[in-house]
Amino acid sequence: MTDPLVLFMPSGKRGRFAKGTPILDAARELGVYVESVCGGRGICGRCQVEVQEGQFAKHGITSSNEHISAFGAKETRYAEKRDLKDGRRLSCSSTIEGDLVIDIPQDVQVNAQVVRKVDDGRFIERNPALTLCYVEIEEPDMHKPLGDLDRVKQALEDDWGITDLIVDHHLLTEVQGILRKGDWKVTAAIHRDLETSRPSLIGLYPGLKNEAYGIACDIGSTTIAMHLVSLLSGLTIASSGTSNPQIRFGEDLMSRVSYVMMNPDGREGMTVAVREALNGLIANVCEESGADVHDILDMVFVGNPIMHHLFLGIDPTELGGAPFALAVSGCVHTWASELDLEVSEGARVYVLPCIAGHVGADAAAVTLCEGPHRQDKKMLVVDVGTNAEIVLGSSERTVAASSPTGPAFEGAEISCGQRAAPGAIERVRIDPVTLEPKVRIIGVEKWSDEEGFEEKSEKLGVTGVCGSAIIEVVAEMFLAGIISEDGVIDGTLAAKSDRIIEDGRTFSYVLWRGKQELTIKQTDVRAIQLAKAALYAGIKLLMDKLEITEVDSISFAGAFGTFIDPKYAMVLGLIPDCDLENVKAVGNAAGYGAKMALLNRDYRREIEQTVRNIEKIETALEPDFQDHFVNAMALPNKSDAFPQLSKVVTLPEKQQVSDANAGNEAGGRRRRRRSRV
Ligand code: FES
Repeated sequence: MTDPLVLFMPSGKRGRFAKGTPILDAARELGVYVESVCGGRGICGRCQVEVQEGQFAKHGITSSNEHISAFGAKETRYAEKRDLKDGRRLSCSSTIEGDLVIDIPQDVQVNAQVVRKVDDGRFIERNPALTLCYVEIEEPDMHKPLGDLDRVKQALEDDWGITDLIVDHHLLTEVQGILRKGDWKVTAAIHRDLETSRPSLIGLYPGLKNEAYGIACDIGSTTIAMHLVSLLSGLTIASSGTSNPQIRFGEDLMSRVSYVMMNPDGREGMTVAVREALNGLIANVCEESGADVHDILDMVFVGNPIMHHLFLGIDPTELGGAPFALAVSGCVHTWASELDLEVSEGARVYVLPCIAGHVGADAAAVTLCEGPHRQDKKMLVVDVGTNAEIVLGSSERTVAASSPTGPAFEGAEISCGQRAAPGAIERVRIDPVTLEPKVRIIGVEKWSDEEGFEEKSEKLGVTGVCGSAIIEVVAEMFLAGIISEDGVIDGTLAAKSDRIIEDGRTFSYVLWRGKQELTIKQTDVRAIQLAKAALYAGIKLLMDKLEITEVDSISFAGAFGTFIDPKYAMVLGLIPDCDLENVKAVGNAAGYGAKMALLNRDYRREIEQTVRNIEKIETALEPDFQDHFVNAMALPNKSDAFPQLSKVVTLPEKQQVSDANAGNEAGGRRRRRRSRV
């Protein structure tokens, strides 16, 4: 008779096991990570599983609660003392008795302190670098002079197979007190990132310690986003964000590098500022969730190269100019205490590798999250900020570059631009016949032509145009025929609509008339053209490298990507033609990638390897950049067709407006930005 077949979900791993095999052992054998703090004593409750009942024809399994052993003494005791939900079993204390489909639930939460969970619904299979191991230690004996710490080591070897342990120094002074406080029962926090490296004892707690936390953090140049994650359940239990206080030293990255170059204490000042902000966020997420900062034992950080260097205390001056030399491009393992982070004394820090001198650990995290390297199709991943980071490829080959888009997409350099805030215009439509616009502002649900808008917008006012809307307004102006393929505002339309007004030698479009008049000037259109041309030219170079003329999917990472409408991004020619169904915003993918690396060290190895394989393209050195850039100044593009887009949007017939009409400023001035950030 063949052994029962057991399938674990959601991983889908399966195997045959002899009757009587504990479920936990079967999971371990298949490489399915099931938490266990107490080592099968039936007291931590971390190893919970659920039997999925029914016929699973695809797998040839009929799974039933009859196929798992009956409740034993340990489970009964645990269920009496704690809360074991209906249908849940302790995998350490139940055995396989027939074919089974076993679900590893994602909500095994045994810490009552946790009041709230913030989760994004995605599933990250766990294999953390940090594990908690409960052990019971022999009491000291005059006839056996083995030290207290040595007996802890012995117990960890006997019960958990952990050998060759390195012990953090701070524990040497604490071990005796902890053992006595715990009545010779303690929980050891063991950190081991590389399978081949020696494990480290980084924390020791009296009795059963049943929770440990990790931090996943994306240090952006504008904002810092942090997640507090339970390392034992994988749940994100609190998230917080703040603006990067380094802004006071310089709005953009380049000005921060200049600040370091010009001020002897500049680097130090910015390092202190970012670390203080991180400590503030750590305190926030802990307060919000009821967690203790000292229970934070592992941390993962990502950021662009300059943020990465400043956080680590490295002078970023070399990143300010060619050849953009990173002090370190590989991953960094260090101690939180080295970085002045106020968490557990033994907490470890892992920083993802940087891809290149201008494509950072944040882009690596986005790559890890989206996984172009894990699929056969050609995926384009774009993270738009003042410097767009672009990764393109598939499992076959992946290339990366950055493009100097400048701050136009964030609303800077635009006469009526502003950061996204209540009162800012976020959506725009322009009637192609009357050229009349309607808008929506942040904080008000209704469109400006709907009843109730005036009343609702009264308090906020209509204050400016945020980055996502600038894309939309320029694209709508193009679709309505107000601007030509070359991006010139057609002055002849002034005869038809009073929204087109003369502005020196060029024309402007009046988008909003109210307390404040908001106009889109020719220079604004030009700024958007320059930014989008830089982005598109960078993408084209990567496509050339891979010898492809189209991409299969596009992921827009970052806040900008969350708010722009992909259709308008394509109408403007920011991104190449692609089936709109396959263009998606992926939000803070960098933060999510950091979380993946926090919860599963296999992902750390995966991104380290991927980054080594990614071919880095320096756009400034590529001779074709200029041609691509010039073509990309046109809307959507001078040379590239957009057949997929044309299926859903009627693009204007190609037409020209004379340069004379547009005046000198708009007369096709083209420049290549030299600044990198
Ligand atoms: Fe602790 Fe099962 S491993 S209860």
